[in-house]
Amino acid sequence: MLTTSSLLIRGARVLLPNGEFLVGDVQICDGKIVRVAPSIAESGDREIDAKGLTLLPGVIDPQVHFREPGLEHKEDLFTASCACAKGGVTSFLEMPNTRPLTTTQAALDDKLSRAGEKCLVNYGFFIGATAENLPDLLTANPTPGIKVFMGSMHGQLLVDGETTLEAIFAKGDRLIAVHAEDQARINQRRQEFAGISDVAVHSQIQDNQAALLATQLALKLSNKYHRRLHILHLSTGDEAEFLRQEKPSWVTAEVTPQHLLLNTSAYEKIGSLAQMNPPLREPRDNEILWQALLDGVIDFIATDHAPHTLAEKAQDYPNTPSGMPGVETSLPLMLTQAVEGRCTVAEVANWMSAAVAKAYKIPNKGSISPGFDADLVLVDLDNYRPVVREEMVTKCGWSPFEGWSLTGWPVVTVVGGKVVFENGKLDTNVRGEALTFDAE
Ligand code: DOR
Repeated sequence: MLTTSSLLIRGARVLLPNGEFLVGDVQICDGKIVRVAPSIAESGDREIDAKGLTLLPGVIDPQVHFREPGLEHKEDLFTASCACAKGGVTSFLEMPNTRPLTTTQAALDDKLSRAGEKCLVNYGFFIGATAENLPDLLTANPTPGIKVFMGSMHGQLLVDGETTLEAIFAKGDRLIAVHAEDQARINQRRQEFAGISDVAVHSQIQDNQAALLATQLALKLSNKYHRRLHILHLSTGDEAEFLRQEKPSWVTAEVTPQHLLLNTSAYEKIGSLAQMNPPLREPRDNEILWQALLDGVIDFIATDHAPHTLAEKAQDYPNTPSGMPGVETSLPLMLTQAVEGRCTVAEVANWMSAAVAKAYKIPNKGSISPGFDADLVLVDLDNYRPVVREEMVTKCGWSPFEGWSLTGWPVVTVVGGKVVFENGKLDTNVRGEALTFDAE
């Protein structure tokens, strides 16, 4: 027997695809949006009174590190996806630096099967490039693309030789996403600054020039082969100005909320919790990155959620690991910026959902329109609440934004038409689905 399920969200301020808002109802059947109208007479199996709340497409976070398999003491796919649901993140694209590395079809299949068992939201996994796995990169499926660590990585996933890089760009047509930092420059500066244990030196060692050099090389190779390129977590004003002049239509770039909102002054306040790769920069960089995002030079936002335990972060630099969690706070952080006038709510929704779906060719996501998947988040733009360590769901149990007073917190998150988070409670029985990616 066929069973159908329907959900009606009533009286929300609904973000329409044209960027305008409609106060009205959204009808969802079997995981799809079927109607958006000022008033829908039919009733639903479940109804949500959304008066006073704003309905946005669920966030698609295109760069996260969820640590499973192999590093589950930091995070796992269940805890990370709980944090996603709480943060309004309904889909994620995860990176290959797990143990084993995601560099083969078998490792990709293993992640997909783990995610199918335990993920509350939708999922996709990058395939990682090494110097040896070109055949795997050509055939891996399904995947949003090939992740290349040009720097800031050790072991097999570091691909820092131009010849090896060029071989990857030369063959195939799949999207290549680069972590752009120049490893030779980092190595040289590590020696220059050796012996300094103040974590603030991290931003000097992995400096703006290291990022710019790698971004320039990636762009050169992309131009040579007309290859689809995505530049992950752009961190410097220098790269943004370079891309403003040189970025071709087949290249996209992203920025993290922390590179927009934090800078090197954070080391004084939160020490190694502010350490990440690429590092936090100067206030000048924050300003140029914001302008580049507003102008469309930067296409969208990713968190680079990269949890490490407080014990790991309590070591002395350079033994402290780089990375910070982000999926629980990214949407309220950005919506707070919108409410405070830095950008619009429609722009935030575009950067955190529609533009990501477009860049990664994820069908039927990123818009509140009939026929689209019902991945949605209802947010409260009227009240402010602080980020509180004890409320964090990520297994690492901290946030670099503790104490920040934010608005736009998710009240209800819907994945595939199912309510996965509501008024502070998760439904851990809900499962997301594997994302699909249309061909380049
Ligand atoms: O800060 C970072 N941490 N940047 C990365 O590229 C990797 C990540 C991690 O996996 O911890």
